[in-house]
Amino acid sequence: MSQQELHGEVYYPSAQVVSNAIIPNPDELYEWAYANPLEFWAQRANEYEWYSKWDKVLDDSTAPFYKWFTNAQVNIVHNALDRHQDTDTRDKVAFFWEGEAGDERVLTYGDLYIEVNRFANVLKKLGVAKGDRITIYMGRIPEIIVAMLACAKIGAIHSVVFGGFSVPALAGRIDDSQSNLVITQDGNWLNGKVIDLKKIVDEAVAQSPSVKHVVVVQRAGNNVTMHAGRDLWYHEEVAKVNAACETEQLDAEAPLYILYTSGTTGKPKAILHTHGGYMVGTATTLKYVFDIREDDRWWCAADPGWVTGHSYIVYAPLLLGATSFMYEGAPMFPAPDRWWSLIDKYKLTILYTAPTAIRAFMRQGEGHPAKHDLSSLRLLGSVGEPINPEAWRWYYKYIGGEHCPIMDTWWQTETGGFMITPVPALPLKPGSGTKPFFTYEADVVNEAGDSVAVNEEGYLVLKRPWPSMLRTLYGDPERYVQQYWGKYPGIYLAGDSARRDEDGYFWIIGRVDDVLNVSGHRLGTAEVESALVSHPAVAEAAVIGLPHEIKGQGIHAFVLLRAGYNESDELEKELIQHVANVLSPIAKPEKIYFMAKLPKTRSGKIMRRVLKARAQGLPEGDTSTLEE
Ligand code: PRX
Repeated sequence: MSQQELHGEVYYPSAQVVSNAIIPNPDELYEWAYANPLEFWAQRANEYEWYSKWDKVLDDSTAPFYKWFTNAQVNIVHNALDRHQDTDTRDKVAFFWEGEAGDERVLTYGDLYIEVNRFANVLKKLGVAKGDRITIYMGRIPEIIVAMLACAKIGAIHSVVFGGFSVPALAGRIDDSQSNLVITQDGNWLNGKVIDLKKIVDEAVAQSPSVKHVVVVQRAGNNVTMHAGRDLWYHEEVAKVNAACETEQLDAEAPLYILYTSGTTGKPKAILHTHGGYMVGTATTLKYVFDIREDDRWWCAADPGWVTGHSYIVYAPLLLGATSFMYEGAPMFPAPDRWWSLIDKYKLTILYTAPTAIRAFMRQGEGHPAKHDLSSLRLLGSVGEPINPEAWRWYYKYIGGEHCPIMDTWWQTETGGFMITPVPALPLKPGSGTKPFFTYEADVVNEAGDSVAVNEEGYLVLKRPWPSMLRTLYGDPERYVQQYWGKYPGIYLAGDSARRDEDGYFWIIGRVDDVLNVSGHRLGTAEVESALVSHPAVAEAAVIGLPHEIKGQGIHAFVLLRAGYNESDELEKELIQHVANVLSPIAKPEKIYFMAKLPKTRSGKIMRRVLKARAQGLPEGDTSTLEE
C-alpha cells in the first residue's frame, strides 16, 4: 500500500485486503514492471503453455503493426481448456448458469472441453477451415461460449454480433466479414418474452450470399423455419460427431476474432485480436486486478457480444481456471432484486458490471439488495463509462457492504484488456480508474502532443504497445494507422479526454470523437444518423448525446424532413422505432427535434457541437465557421 497521503476523497484498502492480495505491494511492481516491460510480459507468458516459444517478446519493426511473441506456436483454447484436463481443474465448475426463468445448468471444465470438441468437429464437417470468419448471433447461453471456443480451437475467426442488433446491422457485419457460417439460437429470453433471433438471422442471411450454413441452438422452443440444406440444429449435429478434436497449433499472431465497434463514420470498425498476446494480456489483467483465487465465483455481468464478455466472461476466466457465473436474462426480471438474489444463491465473490446498471438499481432503492445476503462478495468492478461518485458510493455501501474495493477499469474494444485500473491493494478515489496497469504508459496531451499540466484536460494516449492490443482493422489497415496512430506518430490515440491529478490518478472525462456511450453501449452518431436518413421522411439528420440519469448518455436527434412530410408526434414515434428496426433498440433516440435548418460549416459539415450547446443552453463556442 502506498504510504503517502493522497488528495481528495480516498478509500484506503483494509489490512485484510492488502494481506490477501496477489500483489500486496503494488508500488514495487509498478516500478519494476515499468522499467522492465518485456521481462514482465515474458514472465507472464511463461505461466501458460506454448507449443513452441517465441523469438522475441515484442517486434516493433513494423509499427504500428506490432507483433508479440513472434514465431511462437500457441492456441488460446489449449490454455483455456485442454491443459486443465490433466489437472484437478477438469472437475471444477467453469460456469454456473441460470436462465431467466430460473432454470439452471452447471458446466465443469471437463464438460466444456467435450462440448467444444464436439462442436469444433461439427464446424470441420461443415467445411470450416483456418482463417474462415464465423458470425455468432446469440444471447447469454453457454453455447455462445462453446461456439466461440470451437472456432478458436480450429483457427477460425469468430465475429460475435451483439444479439440486440437489428437485421441491417447484422447483415452489414456478416457481409463485411464475408462469414460463411452463422451460429444462432431459436429465441432469446428477455423480460419474460422471447426475442426471435432466428428470424432476424433469416432476414440478414437473405442479404448475405457468403453464408452457406446456419447452425441453430434450441433454447426458447419458439417456432422457427429451417431452410433445408442451409440450416442445421446444433443438438442434432453435435450428437453425430465424436468428442475428440485436435487443437490447431497456430502462430501467436494468428487472428482469434474480429469484433465490430463504432467509430466516427457510419461503417463499424472490425477490431482484430490475436491468440498469443491477447491470451497473456487478458489473463494477466484479470488475475491481478480481480485477484482471482481458486475458490472465487466470478460474475462478469456483461454480454459476450461486447468486448467485456469476450475478454472477461469467455477467455480470461477460463485461462485462469476460474469458476464463473452467467445469467441469461434481464437484470430486473421478474423483480429489481434478481441480481442480488443470484449473488446470494450462488455465493458469488466478485461482481463486475457497468455504471448504468448501478444507477438503474440505485433508482430502485437499497431495499432490494438489503433483502439478500451479499456477504460472499469481496470485490466489485465497474466498466464502460466514467462512474459518477454518487453511484460509486452507493455500490460501495449497499452492494459491497463497505468492505469491497471497487476496480474501476478503463479500457476499450481496441485494447482487449484493462488499461487504466486499480489493483485491490491500491487506494481508490471514486470516479477515477487510478493508474495504468503494470508496464503501461498513459498520458494526457494537448493538440501538439505535449503532456498537459496536472488536472488539465487533454487527449488520453497510450505511449507503449501492450500484448492484448488490436493488431489492425480487419480489411482496412490504412484506417487502423490513420485512426489510432495518425494524430501522434508512435502514440495510440484512445479517443477519450482525461485529466491526471496531483497523485498521478487518471480521470476519464468522455469521448472526444463522434462516439456515443449509451448505457455502456458504444454507438456512432453517424450510424444513428444513417439509420434515420434511411427513413423516407428524413432528408438529413444530426445526432448528439446528452447527459441521461440512468443511461449516462441519451440520444437526441435533429432531423430535416423531406418535402411533403410534416412533423407530428406520430412521425416522431415512427422514426424512433425505425432506428430500433434498422440499427438496434439500444440506439433509440430519446427525442426527435424537427428542424428547418441544421447548423453547418461553410463546407457543409453539420456542427453537432453547436446543437449540443444549444440543447443544453450553453455558450456555442467558436462559430466563425458556421454557414449562417
Ligand atoms: O469512453 C471510454 C468508455 O468506453 C469506451 C470504450 O468502449 P468499448 O470499446 O465499447 O468498450 C467498453 C468496455 C471496455 C472508452 O473509450 N469507458 C470504458 N470503460 C470506462 C470508460 N470510461 C470511463 N471509465 C471506464 N472505466
